[in-house]
Amino acid sequence: MPKLASYNGKVDSIENIKVSPMSRAFLFSDSVYEVISFYKKKFIDFETHLDRLKHSLNETKISFSIEECKTEIVKLLNESKFEDGYIYYQVSRGVDSIRSHFAEDSDCERFGFIEEFSFFNQSPLKVMLVDDIRWQRCDIKSTSLLGNVLQMNDAKSVGCNEILMHKNGELTEGGASNIFFVKNKTIFTPELSPNILPGITRHQVIKIIKDKKLNFEEGSYSIDDLKEASSIWFTSTTKGILGVEEIVNLETKINTECELLEICKNAFVKRYFS
Ligand code: PDD
Repeated sequence: MPKLASYNGKVDSIENIKVSPMSRAFLFSDSVYEVISFYKKKFIDFETHLDRLKHSLNETKISFSIEECKTEIVKLLNESKFEDGYIYYQVSRGVDSIRSHFAEDSDCERFGFIEEFSFFNQSPLKVMLVDDIRWQRCDIKSTSLLGNVLQMNDAKSVGCNEILMHKNGELTEGGASNIFFVKNKTIFTPELSPNILPGITRHQVIKIIKDKKLNFEEGSYSIDDLKEASSIWFTSTTKGILGVEEIVNLETKINTECELLEICKNAFVKRYFS
């Protein structure tokens, strides 16, 4: 079955969508995006994703109405037969007549697609510790992901399916996820800053940790903290909460069977998938 997509508000089969090479998304990655999951045809934390998209639009000064984004995303879900999956949706500054860093005053361009996906039975992750070579505004969900892409492809070549990034030894996040780790029965996660994306799953997991009154700290952590961790978790819209089985280039004491991970995973599934 052809994949359904949306271009400037019109839903069609993805093969029928034609995009100009003068799109600023194509030439400059001058665009921001969201990935929003749905289960049994209902979005998970839709309003929170829209708030983050609004933040990304404001910070990049791409002026487009969040209400229109919402209408287009809902339309894509309604026109699809998929029950469980996610929607990718991006807004670019527009399509210009010549390539110039200085943008023309053109209409914003939107593109999205819908994907069927099962959130269950995902395998633990094998990750590589890498330098965080990205820009200084990782709190914006920009489609400019070259720093992530380069490091993730290096990691893939040695059999990994995620990376764990650090900036001068300070842990930041995964290539497409936020990170948590457990040490001495306390759960830790890097605090919010311009160096990480304020993950919506991260926020959900912190709520669960607080509801369950588990020991928890947000702050600044180093590679040495990881070496002493008994468990490491990655969180994202598509992964949910996933444990790490190995960091290929770091000796650790991690164990995939972690009681705190099980408590959080079970509460997460109960809250969003039942
Ligand atoms: N990525 N950090 C980065 C760099 C990410 O790209 C993502 C998500 C996250 C987790 O955010 P959330 O919990 O809101 O999904 C953290 C999406 C899924 C992607 O680009 O495919």
